[in-house]
Amino acid sequence: MEKVEKRPFYLYSKPQITRNVEAYKEALEGLKNPIIGYAIKANNNFKILQHLRKLGCGAVLVSGNELKLALRAGFDPTKCIFNGNGKILEDLALAAQEGVFVNVDSEFDLENIVAAARIAGRKVNVLLRINPDVDPQVHPYVATGNKNSKFGIRNEKLQWFLDAVKAHPNELKLVGAHCHLGSTITKVDIFRDAAVLMVNYIDEIRAQGFEVDYLNIGGGLGIDYYHKGAIFPSPRDLIDTVRELVHSRNLNLIIEPGRSLIANTCCLVNRVTGVKTNGTKNFIVIDGSMSELIRPSLYDAYQHIELVSPAPADAEVSTFDVVGPVCESADFLGKERELPTPAKGTGLVVHDAGAYCMSMASTYNLKMRPPEYWVEEDGSVVKIRHGETFEDHMRYFEGL
Ligand code: LLP
Repeated sequence: MEKVEKRPFYLYSKPQITRNVEAYKEALEGLKNPIIGYAIKANNNFKILQHLRKLGCGAVLVSGNELKLALRAGFDPTKCIFNGNGKILEDLALAAQEGVFVNVDSEFDLENIVAAARIAGRKVNVLLRINPDVDPQVHPYVATGNKNSKFGIRNEKLQWFLDAVKAHPNELKLVGAHCHLGSTITKVDIFRDAAVLMVNYIDEIRAQGFEVDYLNIGGGLGIDYYHKGAIFPSPRDLIDTVRELVHSRNLNLIIEPGRSLIANTCCLVNRVTGVKTNGTKNFIVIDGSMSELIRPSLYDAYQHIELVSPAPADAEVSTFDVVGPVCESADFLGKERELPTPAKGTGLVVHDAGAYCMSMASTYNLKMRPPEYWVEEDGSVVKIRHGETFEDHMRYFEGL
């Protein structure tokens, strides 16, 4: 067992990551050439990426650096998809050279992809990212498939894109259609509604002579952040709801899960610095903060919080805001939580911290990004990323 540093840290379960991937693989059984494109933005730990790649995942990328990381981690480029509304030429050229799928997001994006294909001297396999205008019923900041979103193309422009692809036979090969509705979706009917629209678009595209084989329904499946015993849809529920549609058009299905593969494999482990009361509010102050985990501050997201040591049965329970030391009133990990009053130094965990937590961590207030560990199959705890240090920070100024 490695010595764990006295600072907030992320702790993952490697077997749980494996189980989550297996759940998707089992759900996809019987479908033709499915691709599980893991959305790297959810968590870009290199060791985790290597593990996901070994389990057979592809990768979904939204920047040149994510693409480079995926290639370093050994992902098969033909199972990688490059997404985004502001992809730049340099990154597109790398994508073209490596032969990854590229989703077309706009008129200027298409022009850039054509230019990238010329630079790389290779035809690019493209999917049209169509915005189907289906309400994902989630926080507005994580909704993407509604008509006023900055992502994707609207159906009334479809013909323009088909003509543009036809005009560039040496640069572009249209292979499919893509949509991504949003994140934290908890009703699979929403995916089905979108898939119905998408296969209709594919029918229209095929009717014009394009041989498109791929339907990419994006990511977005939510998880049970509340831990209250409610039933949430599983990967199987998601895939089963689109299975017949995919079969009916003889399509290869691409999915882009992030959260549902990685969120529930991890918690952020903190220590209680102290407890205080101001006015009518009780606070548990911990060493972790919005710098390590910003989802509650940014989306008012709920992540379950527990004390590490079991409280004695007769411990008095109070209502606390769990807050960090950062100089912002938005710095909270949980609001109005019923918890026993913890002693100084008690461990406190924030659950479901595998997705969009470390990957969105910052160094605000110079709280350096925390180390990461995972528990392996045999129970050993292994460091999978060093924590950042003050010396790391000073290195950016060396020689200036
Ligand atoms: N594909 C595309 C095109 C996406 O934009 C996303 C996420 C995914 C796949 C993966 O979605 P997932 O399966 O993880 O829901 N920071 C927010 C989530 C932002 C999601 C951005 N796009 C949060 O912490 O809730």
